[in-house]
Amino acid sequence: MKAAIVILALIGFVQSTRISKYDVLETQWKLFKKDHMKSYHNESEELLRKQIFKDNMEQIHSHNLRYEAGKESYKMGVNQFTDLLHEEFVNSMMGTLNTTAFHSEYIYTPGRKVKLPESVDWREKKAVSAVKHQGDCGSCWAFAAVGTMEGQQFLKEKKLVELSEQNLLDCSSEAPYKNLGCKGGSPQEALRYVKENHGINTRSSYAYEGHVGKCRFKKDQIGAVITGSVDVRSGDEAALEAAVAEKGPISVTIDATHLQHYQGGVYNTACGGTANYHHSILLIGYGKDPKAGNFWLLKNSWGNWGEGGYFRMARKSNNLCGIATYAVYPLL
Ligand SMILES: *[C@@H]1O[C@H](CO)[C@@H](O)[C@H](O)[C@H]1NC(C)=O
Ligand SMILES: *[C@@H]1O[C@H](CO)[C@@H](O)[C@H](O)[C@H]1NC(C)=O
Repeated sequence: MKAAIVILALIGFVQSTRISKYDVLETQWKLFKKDHMKSYHNESEELLRKQIFKDNMEQIHSHNLRYEAGKESYKMGVNQFTDLLHEEFVNSMMGTLNTTAFHSEYIYTPGRKVKLPESVDWREKKAVSAVKHQGDCGSCWAFAAVGTMEGQQFLKEKKLVELSEQNLLDCSSEAPYKNLGCKGGSPQEALRYVKENHGINTRSSYAYEGHVGKCRFKKDQIGAVITGSVDVRSGDEAALEAAVAEKGPISVTIDATHLQHYQGGVYNTACGGTANYHHSILLIGYGKDPKAGNFWLLKNSWGNWGEGGYFRMARKSNNLCGIATYAVYPLL
């Protein structure tokens, strides 16, 4: 926010005193490095990062001109990924495990006569814990699995207990489980581990480290126990709506390759062609924006990114980015 004010002030200054575009970029670059605590190995790497930052800033700027003209439904902005090439963003954040190859023992289909609320936001019921940061590790699947377990436990027992992503990262990335640690994984496979292990540790007893270590599950620090998992009928957005309204926060997996510069609003651009890249997140509700239309409300694990760690994506839009393809929640 502060950065935006400084930049706006500077742009005003440019108009009045003809400071070059170069100076604006220099200031933006310095603010970016400071805000996101960036440091580079040497001068040549810094030059390269700065060039990428400049190219990304141009893309953000032209997208936002279209946004201001009412031609886009979401805006772009500077965040921790602005010095990354698109391929780097994709590779660092998203695993390549084919998550859709995993299935639960049950399938959710909505009841016939349910009248669903116009909007749902599980934060209002305090069923959603604070936004987390997965760091430089493709462990989104652990955060999504933890999020849906925290929500289901809250709904059943009226207490919100933060659960351990690190427990899943360490213990479901080894045989017989097929997760790939920081290189990706399946929320379902994580849930299978919790069921068979008869529990998952609390977050406070098994803190997040952001890299795979030895499995250190502690029998006396269990935060939740589950008895199985349920897939929402794949590809069915109406079933997903009913599931999140009736059952609570649900783990979903999308193609997130185009979210690098997202800052706010309703993301609505088709993903297409990158079916190998899966990013798991927590679906916490839905609603309708007066201008941008129907949206899904999602909690990400990229720290203070997007709308305070959350983002919105178009709903009833042909299963945009696969939002309803791979939705799952645990049974408690
Ligand atoms: C600068 O750092 C990068 C990244 O660590 C490395 O690949 C490159 O060889 C370094 N260049 C010089 C000139 O030291
Ligand atoms: C992933 O697995 C599913 C189900 O086994 C299959 O239909 C799909 O083609 C696979 N996708 C890729 C990219 O391999």
